[in-house]
Amino acid sequence: KKLAVFVSGGGSNFKKIHQGCISGDGSVNGHVVLLVTNNKDCGGAEYARSNGIPVLLFPKPQPQSSHGLSPTQLVDVLREYGVDFVLLAGYLKLIPVELVKAFPKRILNIHPALLPAFGGKGLYGMRVHKAALASGARYSGPTIHFVDEEYDTGRILAQSAVRVVANDTPEELAKRVLDEEHKLYVEVVTAICEERIKWREDGVPLIQSKD
Ligand code: GRF
Repeated sequence: KKLAVFVSGGGSNFKKIHQGCISGDGSVNGHVVLLVTNNKDCGGAEYARSNGIPVLLFPKPQPQSSHGLSPTQLVDVLREYGVDFVLLAGYLKLIPVELVKAFPKRILNIHPALLPAFGGKGLYGMRVHKAALASGARYSGPTIHFVDEEYDTGRILAQSAVRVVANDTPEELAKRVLDEEHKLYVEVVTAICEERIKWREDGVPLIQSKD
């Protein structure tokens, strides 16, 4: 399957997915064909350039800018590249409705808490972990969900629990959650590339095991 990954920052999830795709053992049966970013100098974009992956700037830095793509141009480019799945990995901008409509059930996001708690507009980065700690929740962990037109509200596909420990700091919790994100995203991308997602009649997506 052909994958487009969207990144705004360091891109550690993107790197793990890409490494899974290029590893000799063929752990992920996919190819990262495009990296999309709103931040052309971020770590994820630099990694893409040094690995020969085309980098697209989206959205345009300012509406009148000659740099960057409009939503319809982005959809056209994704189609030209034959993209099967769009993977958001620390992409901080809202995905435009044109893209959501063009790739139904084909856009995934990773969020660093157990949705539907601690998500939504304004809850990103360290704020998510601060909110989880402040709530007194004993577990946090990554959620991978399909993307709709709002922040963090699409159907949940996969989660993994990470224990909150006494005297946790947001930074320590973030690191433990990020380690789980890397494992979970690679597992999920492996499953989507093998067409192991089944949609239950009530609209809930499930990952089928290999056997
Ligand atoms: C991750 O915590 C992800 O859950 C969130 O943004 C962070 C991205 O980290 N959406 P990285 O850029 O993949 O290192």
